[in-house]
Amino acid sequence: MMSIPFFSSAPLHSALKVEIDAFWQRFYDSNWYVLGPEVEAFEQAYADFNQTTCCVGVANGLDALHIALKALDIGPGDEVIVPSNTYIASWLGVSQVGAKPVPVEPNPHTWNIDPARIEAAITPRTKAIMPVHLYGQACEMGPIMDVADRHQLRVVEDNAQAHGAAWRGKLTGSFGHINGVSFYPTKNLGALGDAGAVTTDDPALADFARMYRNYGSKERYFNEMPGLNSRLDACQAGILRIKLPILTQWNQMRAELAQEYFAHLADIESIVLPTIGKDCTHVWHLFVILAEQRDALKTYLAEQGIATLIHYPLPPHLQEAYAALGFQPGQFPIAEELAQKCLSLPLYPGMPIAHVASVAAAIRAFYFS
Ligand SMILES: Cc1ncc(COP(=O)(O)O)c(C=O)c1O
Repeated sequence: MMSIPFFSSAPLHSALKVEIDAFWQRFYDSNWYVLGPEVEAFEQAYADFNQTTCCVGVANGLDALHIALKALDIGPGDEVIVPSNTYIASWLGVSQVGAKPVPVEPNPHTWNIDPARIEAAITPRTKAIMPVHLYGQACEMGPIMDVADRHQLRVVEDNAQAHGAAWRGKLTGSFGHINGVSFYPTKNLGALGDAGAVTTDDPALADFARMYRNYGSKERYFNEMPGLNSRLDACQAGILRIKLPILTQWNQMRAELAQEYFAHLADIESIVLPTIGKDCTHVWHLFVILAEQRDALKTYLAEQGIATLIHYPLPPHLQEAYAALGFQPGQFPIAEELAQKCLSLPLYPGMPIAHVASVAAAIRAFYFS
C-alpha cells in the first residue's frame, strides 16, 4: 500500500542538518537561552524579510494576536471583526483581551474575509478588523485597509499561515497597525516548537509588545503593568534564522506542487479547487479543496494510505467555547458549508511531485469507480 503523509519536515531538516547541528552546539554553550542576542538577530532578519521596521518575538501565534490587540488598547466592551471561517486562535486572541469577536463571512471563492461584507458588521463598539490570510492566501488588503480608514479602525493581520504572501507585491503582516505571526513547526516558516512574533512599523507599539511579553517589565524587577511571560526562546530564534533565507525557495516548491494538483484535478466536477483573489498571491500553507461526500472521500484516501486533514471541521461560532455568544447553526452559511466540504491534501516542501498524481488518481477512483 502507498504511504503519503500529510506533512513532513524531514526533507527540509535533512537539507539543513549540518547547519542546525552546528547551531545546537553553539546554543548549548552560549549560556543564553531566552530572549537575548539570538532573538534580537532573528527579530531584525524577520522584520527585514517582512517589510516592516519592527518585529518582536513571542512564545506563539496566539500570544502574538493577544499582545497585538493589547498594544492597541483593545479590551472589554470593544468589538473586533474576524472571519467566520478561521482557526479558532484568531477568535481566542480577541477573547483573551476581553473583547468580542464579530464574525464576517468570507468570499465564497477565495475563502478569505469578504471586504464588501465588513461595513455591515461595524458598530460604535468596533475597534479593529482582523483579516486572516487563510491557508496561505493573502486577503484583499487594499479594500480592507480602505474600510478601516473610512471608519478609523485598527487592523491586526493574523499572518499565521501566509509567510511570504502578498497583495499587490506588499507582504502580508506589513499592512496592519500591528500584526501577529505563528512559527508553529508545520507553518511555512516553522520552529522546532512553539514560537511567534508581532510585526509593526510603529516603534511605540513594538515597545509595548516588548514590555508586555516580558511580565510587563522594561527594566528588570520593575513592572509597568501585569504582563505575560511570552518570551521567544533563543533556540527557536536560531532555528528560524537558519530557515528564513530559504523560505522563498520552499514557498516556490509548495507552488509547484499546487500547480501539479491543479493540472491533475481541474476536470473533476465533484471537487472545487482554490481560487486566487485579484492582486493576491498564495504561499500554499495548505492545499484545500471542497469535496462532495467529503467524509467518505477522506476515509477512502486513508484506506489507500493517503493522509488528509480538515481545516476546520467546526467554525468558531458553533464551538462550545463560544456558546455564550449565542450563535445558531445557519447564521454563517458560507463558513458552515466550507466546514462540511473542505479537505486539505498532502503538500509540503520536498514532497515528491509524483505523490500529487497518486493522490489525484485516488480521488478520481473514488468519484468515478
Ligand atoms: C490562523 C491562525 N491563527 C493563529 C494561530 C495560532 O498560532 P499558534 O499555534 O502558534 O499559537 C494559528 C495556528 O495554528 C492559525 O492557524
